Amino acid sequence: KRYSVIMAGGGGTRFWPLSRQASPKQLLNLSGNDVMINETINRINPLVPYHQTLIVTNQVQEEIMKEVVIDEIPKNNILLEPIGRNTAPCIGYAAMVLRKREQDALMCVLPSDHFIKNESEFIKILDKCFDLAESTNNLITIGIKPTFPCTGYGYIHMGKEIDSSVYEVEEFVEKPNIQKAREYLDSGKFLWNSGMFVWKASTILDNIKRFLPKLYDKLEELEQYIDTEEEAKALAELYPQMQNISIDYGIMERSNEVLVVPGDFGWNDVGSWDSLGSIYEADERGNIIVGDHIYIDTTNTIAYGKEHLIAALGVDNLIIVHTPDATLVCPKDRAQDVKLIVDELKAKN
Ligand code: GDD
Ligand code: MG
Repeated sequence: KRYSVIMAGGGGTRFWPLSRQASPKQLLNLSGNDVMINETINRINPLVPYHQTLIVTNQVQEEIMKEVVIDEIPKNNILLEPIGRNTAPCIGYAAMVLRKREQDALMCVLPSDHFIKNESEFIKILDKCFDLAESTNNLITIGIKPTFPCTGYGYIHMGKEIDSSVYEVEEFVEKPNIQKAREYLDSGKFLWNSGMFVWKASTILDNIKRFLPKLYDKLEELEQYIDTEEEAKALAELYPQMQNISIDYGIMERSNEVLVVPGDFGWNDVGSWDSLGSIYEADERGNIIVGDHIYIDTTNTIAYGKEHLIAALGVDNLIIVHTPDATLVCPKDRAQDVKLIVDELKAKN
């Protein structure tokens, strides 16, 4: 059967002051429709029913997660990590749970906090990836055509086309430096890793056994406690001993069983305030206004606030975010640096 594993352990500091420790990005309702994690779950519901949807999150988010996430998700599908150990342990744990519940389980791994414009096209691609994962023992990635030399993404060097729009992967490079990123972009042979994967639970576990054997040992120790009353206790003991590494560095860069399926469905990982432009249509002066605000002689500005009137006069290229207890004002091109504010606040407390 087809399962989904939604990774929801991240913090999302670049959406301060909206995102806080208790309200990370996946729990924000940026689109005005629903919180991002529920949008992720509902988006794939045509392919994966709710009772086959798993969420992996952190214990500190347990209460808020259970409150916010749609009721149809069974409680024992919400996996709680005692501490974050990055995505390799997160995926390994979920794969162990699935393989124990069903030997031949197929799983797609999805970030909980990405935006996708064309949902039906996305579903088509994901469906194709599930078919591929079922008929092969490959690790399937979904690749996105790059548009700028981003250093925050993984890059996939496409090899031979082995089936219609299915490519071998010559090389997977996680977060290259800017020179490399430019080179990859100019070559036209690379795709961005979307961070969405599809495989058999048993296949990813075999890869973890091969490339991260110490992590596999811990997962194997955990296996007997899964879906028992002692699971939380075993997790508390074993999780801190697991290697802190992402699936990209740990497996995707090393495995030679990777295939890529390119997808073009209006993907955006909504990394910071300036990416609100991917969710909302800008007005004719390039402004994005979320809430009821006044703009006079203002251009290319993002204003976000629900409880408070924002009035902008004669400004250009700003981000203005108002929440009941904090306000952010910064130039649009400093959107990435908002995390510096969070660091500063942490240092103060
Ligand atoms: N449960 C859990 N536990 N989830 C986690 C953990 C963890 O320890 N660490 C990260 N996550 C979740 C995040 O919430 C996010 O949804 C997802 O896993 C990916 O983690 P990020 O930290 O956002 O990864 P990234 O953005 O640096 O890089 C990944 O995504 C890019 C695309 O957005 C990589 O896969 C890149 O190759 C890729 O290009
Ligand atoms: Mg990310």
